This record gives sequence, C-alpha cells and structure tokens, in this order.
Amino acid sequence: MKMIIETERLYFRELLETDVDGIFSLDSDPEVHQYLGKNPIKTSQQAKDVISSIRKQYVDNGVGRLAIIEKETNDFVGWGGFKLITDLTNGHIGYHDLGYRFIKTFWGKGYATESSKAAVEYAFNQLKLHVIYAIADIGNLQSQKVLKKCGFIEKGLFDYDLVPHYWFELYNPNK
Ligand SMILES: CC(C)(COP(=O)(O)OP(=O)(O)OC[C@H]1O[C@@H](n2cnc3c(N)ncnc32)[C@H](O)[C@@H]1OP(=O)(O)O)[C@@H](O)C(=O)NCCC(=O)NCCS
Repeated sequence: MKMIIETERLYFRELLETDVDGIFSLDSDPEVHQYLGKNPIKTSQQAKDVISSIRKQYVDNGVGRLAIIEKETNDFVGWGGFKLITDLTNGHIGYHDLGYRFIKTFWGKGYATESSKAAVEYAFNQLKLHVIYAIADIGNLQSQKVLKKCGFIEKGLFDYDLVPHYWFELYNPNK
C-alpha cells in the first residue's frame, strides 16, 4: 500500500472500498458531525457512497481526501488532506481546501495537527500549490486551533450552508 504522506505516528493512503467500517464509525457519529451540517449517515451503503465519491475525485481531479492510518496499530483513524473545490465558495472556485475528520477515539492525541502540518508541506513541496484554503464553523474551536497551528491565517467570516464559518488561507512561502 502506497504511503502518500508519512508522519511520526501516521500515514496517508488512498481511501479504499475496504474502509467501509471505518467510514461508517466516522460518519455515523453525531458528535463528529456537530459542525458538519448535523446529518450523520445511517447505513453502510451511505459509507460505501462516501468512499465512491472520494475515489471518483482521485480520478476526476487528481486529488481527494486520503485515509489516515495509525502506524502502531494499522487502525483507520479518519481522513485528511485536500479536496479541489469546484463550487463557488466565499468568492473562490477551483481551489484546494484542507480538511480532516477523525473518529472520536482518536481526538486529543495531536493527530489532526500532526497530519495537517504534513499535508501542508506536501501541498507546497510536492503539489507545488501557490495557496491553500480551509473553512471552519465559528463554533468549531478545535478545528480553528488545528488550522492556526499549521500557520493558516483567518480572513473573515462568510455563510456556508447558512452557517457562519471562518475562512482561512495559507500562501506557499516558497512561491
Ligand atoms: C477537528 C478535529 C480533527 C480536531 O481533532 P483534535 O484531536 O482536537 O486536534 P489535534 O490533533 O490538534 O489535537 C489537539 C489536542 O491533542 C492534545 N495532544 C495530546 N497528545 C498530543 C501530542 N502528542 N501532540 C500534540 N498534541 C497532543 C493537545 O493538547 C491538543 O489539545 P488542545 O488543542 O486542547 O490543546 C476533531 O475534533 C474532529 O475530527 N472533529 C470532527 C470533524 C470536524 O469538525 N472536522 C473539521 C471541519 S472544519
């Protein structure tokens, strides 16, 4: 299995059809979805659909969220990395959004920050992106902390699906 990004405790690889149980644990949890529209999934078919949709992005866009695996246990922790945003969002379109989503038992270990810092390095050094963006619900303080620890700068508020969100940006220092 190809490790696309590696950190001290984690690695990123493509999301696979066999991750269905992991995606179900992740996306059926109402706490995980508290700041994601409050609409957790209910069936394993929906988990399969999530995986198909992400795998389609790999083909269509050459990029998509990646599974994150804990090295020590080989457990599926959640997903992270980039999505190409093709809908107009806060006046931007066709940009790379950094995101992450972890099963609750893996919160509070520094995994989101560790993996996101590595994803930022990958975006600038391998993908050679000029700028990356991220968004976070104004109530999602943990996510805002992750982004700030990665160097993102908060650039104001906008409504996403009628909910106020912060807009974050980070420019490639080498470009
Ligand atoms: C957002 C989310 C990924 C944040 O996860 P997290 O585990 O809180 O984030 P981090 O990886 O930065 O871990 C932070 C905590 O781990 C603690 N920690 C424990 N061991 C650590 C270690 N070895 N290294 C670093 N931090 C460690 C830190 O003290 C820190 O706590 P603090 O921020 O209160 O000081 C998680 O809440 C989540 O998946 N939420 C649901 C999906 C979601 O909202 N995604 C974002 C949408 S914008």
